[in-house]
Amino acid sequence: MIFAANFKMNHTRKSTHEYIEALNEKLLAKHPDDKVYIFPPSTALDGYEGNFTIGAQNAYPAKNGAYTGEIGLEQLEEFDIGTILIGHSERRELLGESQEKVARKFSFFKEHGFEIIYCIGEPLHIREEGDEEVIEYLLAQFEGIDTSYEKLIVAYEPIWAIGTGRSATTEEISTTHEALKRTVQKPLLYGGSAKPANIKEIISIRGVDGVLVGSASLDAESFSKMVLS
Ligand code: PGA
Repeated sequence: MIFAANFKMNHTRKSTHEYIEALNEKLLAKHPDDKVYIFPPSTALDGYEGNFTIGAQNAYPAKNGAYTGEIGLEQLEEFDIGTILIGHSERRELLGESQEKVARKFSFFKEHGFEIIYCIGEPLHIREEGDEEVIEYLLAQFEGIDTSYEKLIVAYEPIWAIGTGRSATTEEISTTHEALKRTVQKPLLYGGSAKPANIKEIISIRGVDGVLVGSASLDAESFSKMVLS
């Protein structure tokens, strides 16, 4: 199983160091086949050591240059970062990343050999239209994306389940994951209000290869409970 912690705009450099120190101790008991990823905010990137992979939540698709407020390849290489989240719904919806921009970012980081956790997810009004509409909507988010890329991990995150405390149902997750896997044969994570209370149920669903966790990952104790579940 894959357990990925997305801090979003939470934690500082100091608190990330403390978090990792606390997590490292817990991870001694981790199953060797399970993989842990941590995506801290870019100001907290550093050369951490432990049984996990540090990734970037976002970066601009260029080595360096005149892109005010962004970080690029050069800044990631300083900390040996070779993993990135692309296509998260918060970047698509709140930060205006079009499918075209997302695809350009994907191609750039693919060319540079990054492991990519590529996020897709539907809004509530599409979910309410039914399974077929959901799949159609999700598959459109693969436009311009090389789904055969060997370092691709996909995360299915229904937007209405993110940060709301209301996870998708077992039925919704399994139907969607099975349908997605017919088209994209890559590890497939579920994200959206995954937490210690529902982790066992989620990871036992067929077609779920792990979870991408926001709110419940912010506390090392809570996240480690999920990893060790
Ligand atoms: P959540 O966020 O766990 O707080 O719902 C998940 C995500 O956005 O990756």
